[in-house]
Amino acid sequence: MFQKGLKDVVAVHTKIASVDGEKGELRYRGELVDKIVSNATFEQLSTYLWTGTKEPVSLLLKEGRELPEHVSKLLLNLPINLQVMDVLKVAVSAYGTPSFLQKSQYEQSVILTAALPVIVAFYYRRQQDLEPLASQENLGHTANFLYLLTGISPTPAQVEALETYLLLTMEHGLNASTFAARVTISTESDIPSAIVSALGTMKGPLHGGAPSGVLALLDEMKSPEGVRPVIEEKLARGERIMGFGHRIYKTEDPRSIVLREKCLSLQGKDAWLDLATYAEKEIIHLLNEHKPGRKLYTNVEFYAAAIMRAINLDPTLFTPTFSVARIVGWTAHAMEQAEDNTIFRPQSVYIGKTFV
Ligand code: ACO
Repeated sequence: MFQKGLKDVVAVHTKIASVDGEKGELRYRGELVDKIVSNATFEQLSTYLWTGTKEPVSLLLKEGRELPEHVSKLLLNLPINLQVMDVLKVAVSAYGTPSFLQKSQYEQSVILTAALPVIVAFYYRRQQDLEPLASQENLGHTANFLYLLTGISPTPAQVEALETYLLLTMEHGLNASTFAARVTISTESDIPSAIVSALGTMKGPLHGGAPSGVLALLDEMKSPEGVRPVIEEKLARGERIMGFGHRIYKTEDPRSIVLREKCLSLQGKDAWLDLATYAEKEIIHLLNEHKPGRKLYTNVEFYAAAIMRAINLDPTLFTPTFSVARIVGWTAHAMEQAEDNTIFRPQSVYIGKTFV
């Protein structure tokens, strides 16, 4: 049976998370994500996804915050005009030393999860002509990331907004980047390689690259009057509207609902956010008019863009920040795959010419 894009094909059994696209429910190990995020930290929820227990691995997460010397040197020697996603691939690859690969898959996963925000901030500051900063012992994973980017202790509201986003996007079943990680580990390759595969997959605009497209879209619309003409023109050209549609959700993405509320409580009155909330409703209406029956709603990326804008993250950091969250899902799935492995090797059907 051929299913383009493996649509509706079940490729793994997992105990990590479930997504019900009809009901609009996402559960981490059986618990509804919108409930679980309200009183959990990055440290707690990542451990829960990795191990099923809520004991935070803060110690190991802190240990990984210090980059190995060869990784820092590498970051200092890379060209200054790379995309941060490409820098992450290079830096994560450089962790594949024999001594690192001797550690357990779990330890490697935690260390790389700790390292990702440090790498992002190190290179981003270099691009701004700023010195890298040392992690703050007393700060949690999310607050430390914000501190490393700006050099300023973030406000509790900023930390809460970013942490909510990170917790909501840590894991989402067999999405494209997680699938890439599982395929890589299924060849008995290693954790850094699985993460590199996932990073390359995350980068594309149909997956993790969408939030900066959402900002560009709203910039193009400029005002409520601009929504209809911009959307109609894009649809007439056959373009996708960034931040809308989802392979699994055929109703509102539960993560968007939480992020929308968080944005509204964080930002208060803001012309951009007013436009975003107006545009959301109008775009759903237009998509329904132009693409009837496709059930296209806002996906997590629409309000992810709004949250990251509200805490003043540079748009070049949107997809890297998504990766700072999703590395937890990638590594949890890589370890689950390795536990009961069969190499992924689907079939293809040759439809070209045949010569005798
Ligand atoms: N804008 C316009 N039309 C759309 C959109 C969209 N955002 N999404 C789907 N459609 C249309 C398609 O054109 C297609 O129409 P057709 O029947 O006339 O050909 C129909 O809806 C079904 O689309 P598919 O491509 O079959 O849906 P699929 O499940 O493969 O795509 C995807 C899902 C890639 C997310 C898609 O909705 C999309 O491109 N969205 C925009 C990019 C985006 O926001 N990505 C972030 C996703 S969330 C995440 O990765 C974390």
